[in-house]
Amino acid sequence: MMQQKYIRNFSIIAHIDHGKSTLADRMMQMCNLIDDRTFHECMLDDMDLEQERGITIKSHPVRMNHIAEDGISYEMNLIDTPGHVDFAYEVSRSLAACEGAVLLIDAAQGVQAQTVANVNLAMKQNLAIIPVINKIDLPSADIDLCLEQLEDILMLPAEDAVLVSAKENTGVPELLEAIVKQIPPPPQTDGTETKAIIFDSVYNPYRGVISYVRIFSGSLEKNSSIQLYSTGLKTELKEVGQFAPDMKEGKTLYPGTVGYIIPNLKSPKDTKIGDTVTDAIRPCSVALPGFEEIKPMVFSSLYPIDTNDYNTLKLSVSKLQLNDAAFSYQMETSIALGFGFRCGFLGLLHMEIIQERLRREFNMDIIATYPSVVYNVYLKNGTLEKIDNPAHLPDPANIDYIEEPYIEANIMLPNKGIGSVMNLIMEKRGECTKTENMDRNHIVLTAEIPLLEVMIDFHDKLKSITSGYGSMDYAPLDYRRSKLVKLDILVNGDPVDAFSTIVHHEHTRLRGKILVDRLKDIIPPQMFKIAIQASVGSSVIARSTVRALRKDVTSKCYGGDITRKRKLLEKQKAGKKRMKQVGKVNIPQEAFIEVLKCTE
Ligand code: GTP
Repeated sequence: MMQQKYIRNFSIIAHIDHGKSTLADRMMQMCNLIDDRTFHECMLDDMDLEQERGITIKSHPVRMNHIAEDGISYEMNLIDTPGHVDFAYEVSRSLAACEGAVLLIDAAQGVQAQTVANVNLAMKQNLAIIPVINKIDLPSADIDLCLEQLEDILMLPAEDAVLVSAKENTGVPELLEAIVKQIPPPPQTDGTETKAIIFDSVYNPYRGVISYVRIFSGSLEKNSSIQLYSTGLKTELKEVGQFAPDMKEGKTLYPGTVGYIIPNLKSPKDTKIGDTVTDAIRPCSVALPGFEEIKPMVFSSLYPIDTNDYNTLKLSVSKLQLNDAAFSYQMETSIALGFGFRCGFLGLLHMEIIQERLRREFNMDIIATYPSVVYNVYLKNGTLEKIDNPAHLPDPANIDYIEEPYIEANIMLPNKGIGSVMNLIMEKRGECTKTENMDRNHIVLTAEIPLLEVMIDFHDKLKSITSGYGSMDYAPLDYRRSKLVKLDILVNGDPVDAFSTIVHHEHTRLRGKILVDRLKDIIPPQMFKIAIQASVGSSVIARSTVRALRKDVTSKCYGGDITRKRKLLEKQKAGKKRMKQVGKVNIPQEAFIEVLKCTE
């Protein structure tokens, strides 16, 4: 058993792309955890999508052994964390399992919005923080500026900073030494009660639920009986172990350490992230502080393109959810699209990732509807309805007023971009509440903006007007009353529910016009004229027309050749399969996708 004083539990926190995964790889190589033969880049990012996009989605703990300068072998438990704003929740969960954090700053980019957000999370949990300036090999590295920023923005002593190039492998031994010296070992607990926190869970089709745990006191052993505190559910542990870097079975998980357990549970829903695992015979009296429940911020519906695929889609989303507690779904039906699911996501990136995984890992052909936030709709009869789907918005005649969610954004940017970013905030119905100088070249803007507006393209626009140097972080703020209306699209007089969106009343005309014009080009001419209208309530605010096909397609066949005629008709039939019939009109699937792309 490793003595607690020789254990170090830490995370690496950073803004996206500052080099967390690369540094984790170097540490693992240095601790001889992986040899050069089996090494592939970003070992901890094991989903295909993570490797491809170069982003970390899931946290994944790994145990390394490091022989320090004092000749002692230390157990180092590294918990990798994702950097994108959508996954701040995962970061805080991982930090709850640690005593320290390595704060990574890209020497060429300096402190970014996510750096500040992550430092705040680490400070809230009283973790020891070791600042690291990474990528010092880059010609554009400005180490002095980074050290200045450390003191001025993050209030961390610059002399503590370790200078590293994860790429060229410089500074990594010094960093491992700093971890041993500066990050405290897990605190000794007096009690012998068994207490471990589940900070993440994954579902493996062969092995069942695998929960990642940090033991605070007592121990967890293979075949022992455990109890899950929140539900009182009792079960046995089929297996316990640690990641090195793959799962390695052990006998016991001792206090202070990080590892995995495989409880004998039928349903993955029985394990709750944030729950305390304790001994079934001598359960603890008080649970460990858990985590806040996460609420999805963005909703969108997913429908199979081919209605026959509904059951496969159902199976696929349920499987996905097992590995992603933040993703929620509920069955729903749409007049235009048939049976599908209303899904909740942490943010847009999360939404894109889930859709992409459904397409790739599960081979699903899906249509996703325009993303929506959750509105508070106050009715004239005094009741409140929470609406996340424009199609469910009550009759406007019954609505007293609507509130929409606002976020507070912290935007960091070079001084010269301030004018254009202020304009962008205004254009998105936001308000800048504070400006602060960060250092000689950078400024932080604090702004309050409707989530709806931030969701779609705010980040892309911020990046483009600041030539990639602006970064942002946001947190939910409150709900505010806004003049919002439902914009419907009617095709040949029939409203297509999947095209409906909730928009600010000042944006209705512009958005309506863009949508009807776009649809006019996508919906193919049919035997009759098709009117496409955008309407708010009963008033039509924009319209366009798809002209009728003048000639019968088969007239080309000069009457006689029956096989040619049949072939043509068959071709037409095949074409129709990829269409959705709405009333008398066939709408191609691209139309649904195009509507999603209309952002203005
Ligand atoms: P997320 O997982 O998405 O948060 O990103 P990350 O922080 O894990 O970054 P990652 O390790 O994927 O590195 C981002 C990019 O920076 C990659 O292209 C790396 O090759 C590069 N990089 C990492 N460390 C160094 C370094 O020390 N020097 C240089 N020049 N490039 C580096």
